[in-house]
Amino acid sequence: MNFKRNIIITGGAGFIGSHVVRLFVRKYPEYHIINLDLLTYAGNLANLKDIENEPNYTFVKADICDFDTVYALMQEHKVDGIIHLAAESHVDRSIKDPFTFARTNVMGTLSLLQAAKLYWESLPEKFEGKRFYHISTDEVYGALELTHPEGIEPPFTTTASSSEHHLAYGKDFFYEDTPYNPHSPYSAAKASSDHFVRAFHDTYGMPTIVTNCSNNYGPYQFPEKLIPLFINNIRHRKPLPVYGKGENVRDWLYVEDHARAIDLIFHKGEVAETYNIGGFNEWKNIDIIKVLIATVDRLLGNEEGASLDLITYVTDRAGHDMRYAIDSSKLQRELGWEPSLQFEEGIEKTVRWYLDNEEWLENITSGDYERYYEEMYSKR
Ligand code: NAD
Ligand code: TYD
Repeated sequence: MNFKRNIIITGGAGFIGSHVVRLFVRKYPEYHIINLDLLTYAGNLANLKDIENEPNYTFVKADICDFDTVYALMQEHKVDGIIHLAAESHVDRSIKDPFTFARTNVMGTLSLLQAAKLYWESLPEKFEGKRFYHISTDEVYGALELTHPEGIEPPFTTTASSSEHHLAYGKDFFYEDTPYNPHSPYSAAKASSDHFVRAFHDTYGMPTIVTNCSNNYGPYQFPEKLIPLFINNIRHRKPLPVYGKGENVRDWLYVEDHARAIDLIFHKGEVAETYNIGGFNEWKNIDIIKVLIATVDRLLGNEEGASLDLITYVTDRAGHDMRYAIDSSKLQRELGWEPSLQFEEGIEKTVRWYLDNEEWLENITSGDYERYYEEMYSKR
């Protein structure tokens, strides 16, 4: 079949990647979407059951570090676009095993860049009409101070994501030109990969784009991250391990809004630009946890506050960044993107999804997961 575009999406079996693959496969039947994923513990083809038989979708199990396989795949499918999400993504794992993060996030990205460069340079039109889009995180900017512990009305204009809880916990935000200052092995590895992507533009003229997004939440997130882990634990009456005092602040974005931003930026973003993506939606961990408890208890028909006793304060994460807050007004101003969901709406949808998809959760929370979880939390 002759497709208008042939696009590799790496990490498409993971949390955000699966939403991006689904959106592209459904929205662009004229594109061939090749999902390149190694299926590590975080990759799960069950995330894509609903589109796996679509004629414009191909899954390839491969490692982004495997240059020869990636290069051959680009040649075979005449790939003209890459949306790169494959990564090791969990800070706690990076603290235990930084090497894996350097291998996948740094060397894997470099291998992918080099394969794209050599393949595209071998074509008569070279880089024309090509795009290498790298998905990164706000964590590369480091941590912001919590100067307003109780929160204040923020100075930015409100968006659809703003809700009754519309507070900023400090005067600073991450902007596209905020200097990189990563603290965890995860963010250090992501920062390094971002630098390589920009270096490939500046040195070889590769048509690259980088975006840095805040914390995502929604369906299909691996239950080691705060929101799905806590929903699952509340449901099973397991302790909720709150790191430190639960005062750390994150800016949360519904995953489908991130996928929409990726679609827009892949098509309309300027080459060599960076765009921040965020929800203008800051929450202290402990406040989110209370919303999760209230929502799960209500949906399960439990008495109000029944699960509050599960909150368990544990030793803080090493090097725990205090506050992340993205200013995404450039993306709003230049490309007209804004979040579509209010946080309370997104949380309600998310909790419902995890409660309705018990089988999905059970399939990934048996075996290795149990062992990892026990090891991670037993000593706290
Ligand atoms: P995830 O851990 O859920 O998924 C990662 C995917 O990458 C998995 O499917 C895994 O199998 C695959 N993968 C890992 N190593 C690979 C390798 N060597 N070769 C091929 N595939 C490999 O991650 P996520 O939360 O969906 O994040 C996706 C991307 O978005 C990452 O680059 C992450 O840094 C970035 N990001 C995530 C968030 C967030 O809140 N989750 C926020 C901003 C940016
Ligand atoms: P996480 O979902 O791991 O994302 P990130 O570290 O990339 O922001 O964690 C979100 C916040 O929740 C972070 O401040 C750490 C905290 N947290 C806990 O308090 N307990 C937990 O069990 C987890 C996984 C996270």
